[in-house]
Amino acid sequence: MHPRAARALGRETRGKTAPGRLRRLDAFVCAVLPELIRRPGPAPFVDLGFGWLPLTTADAARTFRVLNPALQVVGTEIVPERVQAAQAWADPQTRFLLGGFEVDPGQPARLIRAANVLRQYGEDEVAGAWAAMGAHLEEGGWLLEGTSDPSGRVMVFNTLQKRGGALLPEGLLFSLSPREPFEPSVLQPRLPKNYIHRAVPGEPVHDFIEAWHRAWLAHRHLEVFGRRQVWAETARALARDWPIDRRRWLLRRGYLWLRRSP
Ligand SMILES: C[S@@+](CC[C@H](N)C(=O)[O-])C[C@H]1O[C@@H](n2cnc3c(N)ncnc32)[C@H](O)[C@@H]1O
Repeated sequence: MHPRAARALGRETRGKTAPGRLRRLDAFVCAVLPELIRRPGPAPFVDLGFGWLPLTTADAARTFRVLNPALQVVGTEIVPERVQAAQAWADPQTRFLLGGFEVDPGQPARLIRAANVLRQYGEDEVAGAWAAMGAHLEEGGWLLEGTSDPSGRVMVFNTLQKRGGALLPEGLLFSLSPREPFEPSVLQPRLPKNYIHRAVPGEPVHDFIEAWHRAWLAHRHLEVFGRRQVWAETARALARDWPIDRRRWLLRRGYLWLRRSP
């Protein structure tokens, strides 16, 4: 394909990325969706929009292959030079392909991750991008689409699963490294594209962040026992009114998985 034609498939950026940036998301997948990774067969994990170098693709491949050494991994980019540079990372189980949201990894994917890709698009383009990515998921496969800060300490991801042939929202995952100072407002700037302009009064995502803030105000005195304690107790209080996943593994490590999309 001619490079200019390829560029028309999406929105090119500087492609900023860093090793370890999506490590917390990889850890979430291994802890919460291990069967998805372990499932035998050729269905790949697809890292869509890996950036100027496939550093996060390589991180995920290493982490997921602890659970499934035979896992196929595909990194994709809309910038031809990035796909070319990534070939140095290719091996019989790891491929790099040129294309946008519609790119076909050859086999329906078990998991597609689009991290820090959709922020450059319009809110009205989100549904189309999800549908294009969802078309290449296998039944039961997951799409994780969202945004992080440059270090990956703060991130918010849409979680969706393909069931009965449809891509269904499975909620919003908030992740904050327990080393970071915690106040719910620090997560708001990292909301994915479909929410970032909606954190205003009258919108459900605003109601959720306000409720989280109130729960945090009531529990922040627990800081003397550590930030993990404040996060976990705030989440448990919030879970009285919101469908929060209460698994201890998540709450102890700075994850809050709201199991309904606001
Ligand atoms: C900010 S970088 C993120 C890199 C990496 N995913 C991360 O989170 O560190 C976003 C990358 O997505 C690529 N991109 C934008 N639209 C795309 C699309 N439709 N399909 C594939 N890649 C895309 C850009 O070229 C850019 O390299």
